[in-house]
This record gives sequence, C-alpha cells and structure tokens, in this order.
Amino acid sequence: MPVLRLAVCCLIALAAAVPESLAQSAATVDVHSYAEPEAARVRHVDLDLAVDFARRRLSGAATLSYEAAPDARDIVLDVKDLLLVGVFDAAGNPLPAALGPADPVKGRALRIGLPAARGPIVVRYATLPEAGALQWLTPEMTAGGRRPFLFTQGQAILTRTWLPTQDSPGIRQTYTARIVAPPGLRAVMSAASLTPEGEAVAGGRAYRFRMDQPIPPYLFALAVGDLAFAEIGPRTGVYAEPSVLGKAAWELADMEKMLSTAEALFGPYRWERYDVLVLPPSFPFGGMENPRLTFATPTILAGDRSLVSLIAHELAHSWSGNLVTNAAWGDIWLNEGFTTYFENRIMEALYGEPYAAMLRNLNRQDLLDYFAEEGADAPDTRLVIDLEGRDPDEGLSEVPYNKGSAFLRAVELAAGRPAFDAWLRGYFDRYAFQPMTTGKFVEDLEARLIRGDEALAARIDMDAWLYAPGLPPNAPEETSARFEQVEAQAAAFRAGAPARRLAVAGWSTHEWLRFLRSLPPEMTPAQLADLDAAFGFTGAGNSEIRFAWLRHAVRNRYTPAWASLEQFLTGQGRRKFVLPLYEDLMATSWGRDRARRIYARARPGYHPLAIGSIDPVVGAPPEP
Ligand code: BES
Ligand code: ZN
Repeated sequence: MPVLRLAVCCLIALAAAVPESLAQSAATVDVHSYAEPEAARVRHVDLDLAVDFARRRLSGAATLSYEAAPDARDIVLDVKDLLLVGVFDAAGNPLPAALGPADPVKGRALRIGLPAARGPIVVRYATLPEAGALQWLTPEMTAGGRRPFLFTQGQAILTRTWLPTQDSPGIRQTYTARIVAPPGLRAVMSAASLTPEGEAVAGGRAYRFRMDQPIPPYLFALAVGDLAFAEIGPRTGVYAEPSVLGKAAWELADMEKMLSTAEALFGPYRWERYDVLVLPPSFPFGGMENPRLTFATPTILAGDRSLVSLIAHELAHSWSGNLVTNAAWGDIWLNEGFTTYFENRIMEALYGEPYAAMLRNLNRQDLLDYFAEEGADAPDTRLVIDLEGRDPDEGLSEVPYNKGSAFLRAVELAAGRPAFDAWLRGYFDRYAFQPMTTGKFVEDLEARLIRGDEALAARIDMDAWLYAPGLPPNAPEETSARFEQVEAQAAAFRAGAPARRLAVAGWSTHEWLRFLRSLPPEMTPAQLADLDAAFGFTGAGNSEIRFAWLRHAVRNRYTPAWASLEQFLTGQGRRKFVLPLYEDLMATSWGRDRARRIYARARPGYHPLAIGSIDPVVGAPPEP
C-alpha cells in the first residue's frame, strides 16, 4: 500500500464566533488530546476495516462527520502509530493534511483542512503491528489453540492507535462499522450487531455494527476470534471461545438479575443489551466496560461464581463512566470511584450486606496498603490529580477506585441512604451522555444534596476528600462481622495453632482472602507447608486465592510453589496478578534469575500494556 506524503496545509487562526454547543463542550481542557473541539468536533465515525492476521494489520477507512464553527478552517484529530494512506473528501479529492510532532504518550495531531460544504472526511489508513490498542494472539494463546484472536483496548488514550478521531473522553461520538474478518472468525464490537452471522465477501465475512448513542472514543472496541454465544436472559448473554462458553455461562448465570438490580437502584439501563465477552487469558485487565459488551478476563471463572463482583463493576460503568463520563483523565475517580461504590451496592442488593461489607473491607485494606507504600502524603493519593505531561495510566491506582468509593460511602452515611440514592439517581439522569468534571460534580452535590445544610457539608468535608492527600478522618471503618471470625483464626495460627485445627468451615473466597492477608509477612517453611497441606493453596483454582498465596510463597522462598508460580505467570497475563509477583521476585537476591527466566517465556504471551509495566521491573529480554 503506497504511503502518500501528506501535504502541509496553511493554518489559519480561528476567530471568535463559536456556536453554543461547541463552546460548552470545550469547557474542560483534556491535556491528552490535540483536538480543538471548539473549532470542529467529530460527531460520527464510520469504519470500514479488514482484519489481516498474517500482517497484524487493520486497514481501510474511517469516515468522519463533524460539526464545525462557521469560521473554522480545519479539524484536528489524534493519531498514534497509524500508517496514513491519505485524507479525502467524499468525492475522493485529497484534502490538505499535516501531522504534528510525535509525543511518546499522546502521539501526533493530524490537522486536516475542512472540505467545502463541510462534507465528510475520509481517512484511509492501516494500523501498525505494534499498535498499543491491539493484541494479536497466535492460536497457541487461545483456549481452542487453533485460530488466532484479536482484541482492542482503548482506555485511556489508545483508540488513536487503531482509528483516527478526536480521542478525548469529552468528545462523544456515535459510530457504525463494517469489519471484514477471515473465514471462520467472528467479529464483535461495543455496538449493536446488525449481521450476527456476517455476510460472505471476498476474503472472509463482513460484520456490520451500529452504536447510536454517543460514546467517548475510549469505548470503541472490537474483538475477532472463534467465538460462540450463549444467552443468559432476555437482555444478557456471553461470548467466548467454544471450549470456554459453558463454564462462562454457568459462572455468569446471575447477570440478568444483576442488570435489573442495578436498574432498580439507579435508573434505567440505556444501552439495550448487556453481554460479556470472555477473552483469552492474556487480557491485561480484569474487565473493560465497553458499552453493550464488557470485555472480561477468564480468571474470573472460578467455578463457584465467587468473583462476579467484577461483572457488577463493569455493568455499573454503564451508568458511571459510559453514561456520565470523566471529561479528562485527571478526574478518573468520577468513573472508577462511582463505579466501585455502585458495584458494592449491586452486590449488597444481590447477596446481602455481610457479603458487601467483606468486599468493602478488602478494598479499604488495598487502599491503606497503597498509602503505606507510597506515603499518605504522596500527590497521587489525592482524588483529583494532575496528569499534565504524564501517561494517564499513571493515575490508575487504588486511589480513584477505593478512595473514590469511600468518599461516596462517606457522603451516603452523612446524608442518609434515601437522600443519597435520590441524588445519585438524579445525577445519572441529569448528566446522561455528558462529560463530567470534579467542579461540576461539586456544584451539583452542593445544589441538590447539601442545599445549604452547613452541618451536613461539615460532616462530608468535600475539600478534604477531593483535594487533600491521604484518607480523611470521616472515612468509614468498614468492619465485617464475618472477617472478625477470620481474624480470630488467623491470630490462632500466628500463635501456633496447626492449620488443620482452624475453624474454616463454610468460608467463601473472600474469607480466604482476608485470612491470607492476615498471615504474617514472614513465615517458616514449616508454617507454609502446614497451611498448604491443610488448604491446598498452591493448587488453588481460584485466581485471587492463588495470587494471594503465591505472594507469600515468593516472599518466603517457599520452593514447593515454584511450579504453580511458573504456571500462573505463563498461563494468564492479567497485570494486577503478574506485575506484583515479578516485583516480589525481583526484590529478592535469589528470585531475579527465576523472574527473568519465567518472563522470557511468558512475555510473548502478554499484552503490550502488561509488557510496558513489567519490562521496567524485570528488564526487557535481549533482542534475538
Ligand atoms: N475501566 C477499567 C479498566 C481500565 C481503567 C483500563 C483505566 C484502562 C485504563 C475497568 O472498569 C476496571 O476498573 N477494571 C478492573 C476491575 C475492577 C473490578 C476493579 C480491573 O481490570 O482490574
Ligand atoms: Zn472500572
């Protein structure tokens, strides 16, 4: 494919007349986008792409419709590592276009001269094999082992590596797509599927999609693989490779109930369907809330439905995040804190308050551990953080999730649940399909919940929560009666009781997790062997339990767990599980070689995002 050199167009300064709708949307500056939405903003993207596994390439065209100020001369898009073939108007005439300098995080600005009569812009392009949003899996990296697999991951600013648009969460866009996949592979997207079976075309099958609700570009998503579907309920279902589908459908059997529970709490589900795609094990996250189609790690398939709070979390994003969206990444707590709070409310409604209390307690401990590591005064322990000049990934910590949800819980406790719930439900209605900032949130909470009640405002202490580091004094304690019993058993073990004598009957995954976390950081080989013989931790099938145990094993050089460790690190690539284990290994003198050896084997199977996090810890293996 010839790569045309893009003509440099003359840039003309923009004059003042700006339509109201454009001006409002530009109120927040997104430091991670080059877009100038007050001049021209994308409204709709139409994709026409072919999937080429042999070359690891998507190629085709994105046709952009947009809205422009009367005096605007050009539109600015975000692109990164895209191979641009050319930019045209609808009639195929080339348009002037210029690429700005490359920034390692943000990529480049693509400035395009607007066509006469404001007609659509056609960008012909192809992706590069190393596009950050794409993971191309060889057949060996799938459950079936026979067909390749592709999936995208757009959040936070990676959509620009697979399609050219204004990649800012405040610039919502609808989309349509036609994806041509090789024969025998099915394409799915974060959109309504118009041709579930596909249509035969040269080179494979074409699948068409349509997303009619405007969404932020980080939620554009595509997966292509040997996929089958099972219905769970009238609005819910699961996609997975055929060999995983039965297990996945069993694990996620409560999804339809989860959906109606969420609606009863905070208002109608506005996306029609809610399906989950269970990905191959290299998926770097637990879950990703792509609209209508959550992407999820197979490590939640525990066989006992004990890890489904992750699905409640991704489902909750259908309100907090996908409907009301952080306008820029420094406000990500508005997505993840609200969602973690909402997730817990769904779990409470479905499985009871004692269950939800355990989850909150574990989250609070994760947060306190993070503060202990980073220092409670560290700037990134604030809810609102400054990401100027940084990768938005750096803002992804326990803080937006667990300090954010603790804050909302503190507001709930201060205002009372009925008042808080009414406010939250109204918030989703008032700001549906709109970007949100911390400032707008503060205004709304003051106007509609606090309403001049100074005592209430003091009980909440919003400023401390939003802008100060650490945890404010009114942070809820999050005690759990069930965990008190677990603590007693952990204390008995610490005091010398043999593991088999502990009262563990009826413990759920979360009690086991609490127990594992309450074990002393330093244990003898005999203690570890005693625990392992009694509870079989080394062979645990539950990924969260296995992970918590392997951390003890590594820190205490418990050699009988080595085979299990290696299997865990090579068998899945969820960053939350693999990164800390490599860090633990690298922190010892004897573990470094083991870490390097395992990583050399595992690395080709990890997602670029996981590799990006682990390379600095273990070191990239030498080029072959
Ligand atoms: N939206 C996030 C994942 C994400 C955040 C990806 C920021 C890229 C940048 C998703 O909803 C999430 O939070 N996933 C968690 C699981 C959740 C239960 C805490 C994860 O993947 O671990
Ligand atoms: Zn989330």
